[in-house]
Amino acid sequence: MIKKIRVAQLKPGMFVHDMDCGWMEHPFLTDSFTVRNDKDIERMVGHGIFELFIDSEKGLDLADAPTRVEVEQSVTRKISEIVSKFKLVEPVSLHEELINARLVRDEANKIIGDLMTGVRQGKKVETDRLDPVVNRMSASILRNKDALLSLCRIKEKDSYTFRHSVSVGALLMCFTRVFKPRSGDMELVGIGGMLHDIGKTMVPDRILNKPGALTPDEYVTMQMHVQHGQNILADARDITQTSFDVVAQHHERFDGSGYPLRLKGSEMSVYGQMASIVDVYDAMTSDRVYRMGMDPTLAVRKMFEWSRSHFDPELIQIFVRTIGIYPVGTLVMLESKRIAIILNQDGRDLTRPVVRAVYDATKRCYIPPQDIDLSANLGHGGGDRITSHESASKWGIDPQQFI
Ligand SMILES: [Fe+2]
Ligand SMILES: [Fe+2]
Repeated sequence: MIKKIRVAQLKPGMFVHDMDCGWMEHPFLTDSFTVRNDKDIERMVGHGIFELFIDSEKGLDLADAPTRVEVEQSVTRKISEIVSKFKLVEPVSLHEELINARLVRDEANKIIGDLMTGVRQGKKVETDRLDPVVNRMSASILRNKDALLSLCRIKEKDSYTFRHSVSVGALLMCFTRVFKPRSGDMELVGIGGMLHDIGKTMVPDRILNKPGALTPDEYVTMQMHVQHGQNILADARDITQTSFDVVAQHHERFDGSGYPLRLKGSEMSVYGQMASIVDVYDAMTSDRVYRMGMDPTLAVRKMFEWSRSHFDPELIQIFVRTIGIYPVGTLVMLESKRIAIILNQDGRDLTRPVVRAVYDATKRCYIPPQDIDLSANLGHGGGDRITSHESASKWGIDPQQFI
C-alpha cells in the first residue's frame, strides 16, 4: 500500500515509492529505492524533501500513516473549498483575447531569446527592451488572463529556457493580478519573471541540457545561475528592487531549504515567494528531454500538498485561485463520459466552469463540439458534472484546436 509520511518518520528498510519532489534539479538518480541507512535520509533532508510516499509492501510499514487515496480525497476537499467562492470576471472572452495573446507571446519569446543570446555573447542585458512587451502582456492579462496562461502551457522541448522565462513572467503577472489587483506592480514583477533565469546563460549547455541526474558538482554549478543572474542585473540600468528580488529569490523556499541564502518565510520578499511558486509550477508542467511534464491540474494539487513546508500556505491558496482547480485549456471527463475542454471560469464557481465537450470516451470518437455551463441545470445549457481531469497526451487530443 502507498502511504504518505514525513521525512522525519523515514527509517532504513522502508521503500521510497515516490519522493513527492517536483523540482527536477535534485541529484537523486531515481525516485524509488530502499532506504539503506541514515545517510540516505540526511541527504534527502539536505535537499529539502519534507514528505514522501512509501510502499508498505516492499519495505517497512508505518501503521498510522495516511494512504495515498486518503491524502488525495482530503486535497480535493480543501481545494474545492478554496476555489468555490472565488470570482474573477474577465472583461473579454477567451476566444476574443487568444489572437492577441498569441502575438504577444511570440514577441515575448523572440525578445527574451535575443536578450539571452546577447548576454551569452558578452553584451550587457538591455532590460528596457522588455518594457513594451511586458506592457502588452499586462494589458492582455487584464482583458483575460486565461488566454496567455493557456498559451504558455504549450511548450516544446527545445528552447525550454526561453519559453520557461516567458511563462514564468506571464504566470507571475497573473498571480499578481489576483493577489494585488491595484498594486501597479504587475509590469515590474513581469520583468523579473522574464529575467529570472538569465543567469543560466552562464551555465554550460552540457549541464543545462543533461538528460539525467546531475552530479553533486554539476548541481552546484547549476545553482550558481542565481548568483550569475544577480551579477548580470547589477550591470543593467533601471532595474527595480521588485524585479531584482524575483531573480535573486526564485529558488529560496518558505522553510529555508532553498538557495542561495536559505532565506526563510518573511525574510523573502512576497514577490520572491510568488516567483518560487510559479517557477516550480512551470518546471513541473513542462516536457523536458528526460521526462514528460505533469498535468497542470495535478501540479496544482501537488503544490497545495507541499504548502505546509516549501511554500506559504496563504500564497498557495491565491495561486490555486489564479490557475483554477481546472485550468482553462485542460481536459476533463464528464459524468456523461464525454471529454471536454475547460473554456472559462469567470464569474462563477471555479469547480463548475463552462466546458466544450468534443470527444465521446465510450465510442472513442470526436463529436460535434458542444458548450456546457456546468453551473446550470439540465435544460438550461448544463446538466453534467466533472468526474476527473484527463491528460491531453493520453487521449491524443489537442485542446488548442478547440478554443
Ligand atoms: Fe532558476
Ligand atoms: Fe526557472
